Amino acid sequence: MINAEGTAGALIRYFSLIAAVQHNYQCSAPYCAVLEVGPTQVDNDPMLSFSSSPSRIVLGVTGGIAAYKAAELVRRLRERHAEVQVVMTEGACQFVTPLTFQALSGRPVRTSLWDAAAEAAMGHIELARWAEHVLIAPASADILARLAGGRADDLLTTLCLATEAPVSVAPAMNHQMWAHAATQTNVDTLRARGVRVLGPASGDQACGEQGPGRMWEADDLAAALFSGVENGPLTGKKLVISAGPTREPLDPVRFISNRSSGKMGFAVAAAARDAGAEVTLIAGPVMLSTPRGIRRINVETAEQMYRAVHEAVVGAHVYIGAAAVADYQPAAYAPQKMKKTSEHLELHLQRAPDILASIAALERPPFTVGFAAETNDVERYARDKLTRKRLDLIAANEVGVDRAFDRDDNALLLLWSGGRRELALQSKDQLAREFIAVVAERYRLTRHPLAALVPQAS
Ligand code: PMT
Repeated sequence: MINAEGTAGALIRYFSLIAAVQHNYQCSAPYCAVLEVGPTQVDNDPMLSFSSSPSRIVLGVTGGIAAYKAAELVRRLRERHAEVQVVMTEGACQFVTPLTFQALSGRPVRTSLWDAAAEAAMGHIELARWAEHVLIAPASADILARLAGGRADDLLTTLCLATEAPVSVAPAMNHQMWAHAATQTNVDTLRARGVRVLGPASGDQACGEQGPGRMWEADDLAAALFSGVENGPLTGKKLVISAGPTREPLDPVRFISNRSSGKMGFAVAAAARDAGAEVTLIAGPVMLSTPRGIRRINVETAEQMYRAVHEAVVGAHVYIGAAAVADYQPAAYAPQKMKKTSEHLELHLQRAPDILASIAALERPPFTVGFAAETNDVERYARDKLTRKRLDLIAANEVGVDRAFDRDDNALLLLWSGGRRELALQSKDQLAREFIAVVAERYRLTRHPLAALVPQAS
């Protein structure tokens, strides 16, 4: 996609077009990909492998200013008809009183392993068996370390060792504590043992600093707990999805870009997650927050996106290129702002790497799905791209004024070798769900042809 932003009046001529873009194109520029730790994001979340609707939840509350948010979380969980047994550490009791949680949960709060009366009512082993899910929110750096170390020095850690229920943690701490190698190693250890790490979010912190370390909001945590997809059509599958535009810098203040908002690609990512997939979203510069449970990598240029996609598709089952990637990039970058020295300006552009074609050309490519943005002859051009780029599937949309780009609705024509399906104009969220259902079906039929002979599980 090409259009010029910030270069009004520029006469763009495609000089010196370097057309020979090889499939094994190597990008030289470093990309500034970051794993965004957003308010609705799971960093490297392992596949959701627990019951989708736990009705008996042990909520562990540890010491931290975010403990007050756990009170709201109890309400959100109870709204979903869960029984919530709160277990507080000694530190947590310094921030919020057990009485608050007792009032909200309707159950006496457990604070000690040595409370004879509470143990007589329900011993800690019974409590560990009673739980269908253990959620620790907020999870301090200390509890992460103690869990990783297999300690059993208070009720909460003992319970976590004794339970067979899945355990989730919602970290909350100062961003430097979160970034510390010790904490990250502990988190890796917990993940490797199947503990689900929800967050943290990035933003203002109680200490006055900024960065990743905020506990997810109660709504996001409750939604995450109740959205485990065990039998979705993409459960167990890793998907990489690109979304949004790319920006090709001309000088420090100008770039070439296009009108993509990223809405379509983000909706596809959320729909894939809801179908059970583990999703990595490679996002160009967009103003959208990360859908919950999705790993996001931010990039800016086509070259950065190329590298990020190639790194992410290793081991992936499906790649979906919904991004509006630049077809051409400036042949040279002016390190200082270009001056108005003449009536006309000639920009020399060269071909940007074709990410989609390069993925489809890998020795063992994932199931590769492209998008085609066309203003006319939609089906003809899209089918040409399907064949030329050796794709498994292509989703064509008619673009133009008030169509597809930066809108909340869209329509798609899906094409594959020997088949087609039209998806009517509707919200991008709903459209993405229908699209993902077809992707899952085509994936199943082409990668596991024998599956066509047996009825689908769900
Ligand atoms: O982001 P929105 O505002 O929600 O709008 C959605 C959308 C219109 C951007 C989306 O639905 C869409 O059509 N995305 C693909 C846009 C595009 O670049 O189409 P294309 O026909 O120019 O490219 C064909 C395919 O090649 C696309 O899958 C594209 O990601 C890929 N490509 C293109 C150029 C390039 N250098 N590398 C690529 O991988």
